[in-house]
Amino acid sequence: MIFYYTATGNCLYVARQIEDNVYSIPQELKKENLEYKDDKIGIVAPIYAGELPQTVRRFIEKAKFDTSYFYMLLTYGNKDSVAGVWSEKFCRNHGIKVDFIQTVLMVDNYLPSFDMDEQMAMNKHVDEQIQKAKKKIDERQQSIPQPTQEGIEAYQMVSQRFALHPELNNGETIQMTLRCVGCSICEQVCPIGNIKMVNGKAQRISKTCDFCLACVQNCPFLAIDLKIDKNHSARYRHPKITLKDIVQSNHQGRKKKKKKHFI
Ligand SMILES: Cc1cc2nc3c(=O)[nH]c(=O)nc-3n(C[C@H](O)[C@H](O)[C@H](O)COP(=O)(O)O)c2cc1C
Ligand code: SF4
Ligand code: SF4
Repeated sequence: MIFYYTATGNCLYVARQIEDNVYSIPQELKKENLEYKDDKIGIVAPIYAGELPQTVRRFIEKAKFDTSYFYMLLTYGNKDSVAGVWSEKFCRNHGIKVDFIQTVLMVDNYLPSFDMDEQMAMNKHVDEQIQKAKKKIDERQQSIPQPTQEGIEAYQMVSQRFALHPELNNGETIQMTLRCVGCSICEQVCPIGNIKMVNGKAQRISKTCDFCLACVQNCPFLAIDLKIDKNHSARYRHPKITLKDIVQSNHQGRKKKKKKHFI
């Protein structure tokens, strides 16, 4: 049994290479009972600023896992910094003993810093990394990656930058533009249901969010801008993952309109 969170498909791709039974965290969070029992249980999640996305944290806080082997695969695009030890500690603080963590270098989908065309042209040897991880998981290996000095420094630098400028990492700089044609894709791919359609146009409900970039990356009309964007016309979704996959993973359903009562 493996749980995943994904905005652009990397984590879903990894999850599918490891196990047949894959479950979306945003869908699981809709359930009342979050108790799971299996021989092995895994989480595949992206690294955000050396840590875990808010929605993944919420799942770890709420879920109860009954297993003799718990593992995590953390995807990233540039620096995994302290993500291994940070995630192990976060799980430990919520009563979960983590046996194994491996980070997997893939396309970096962080649009403020990376050009998606350049990222997609790079060969990061993803399948080799996944196969190595799968072998270790099959052997039930025990290991948590320790950060390098460079990783610790990168984490400190990013943490300071986001403490001073939270808007760079909390979704405040996302803007729906006049190019929006009202297709509602962004509403369907948002893992926290933070987008609604108003008079045929997309509108964000709260100005802060996970900043997963699923809406920005998957908008077919390039109609969502970021204040800082390396290449506005380059967007990414993993080549083996469809838009339907992302929608199925993340959709939160339309918010029901309150019934009007006429007297
Ligand atoms: C808000 C945000 C923060 C990120 N922080 C990091 C990071 O600290 N280090 C890194 O190497 N990649 C970082 N990334 C890149 C993602 O971790 C990476 O592209 C991941 O594989 C995306 O997974 P997904 O396609 O399943 O959403 C970040 C991406 C986002 C959107
Ligand atoms: S996906 Fe793009 S075009 Fe479609 S509703 Fe959202 S912002 Fe508008
Ligand atoms: S509004 Fe966009 S960036 Fe924010 S959580 Fe939803 S899909 Fe992700």
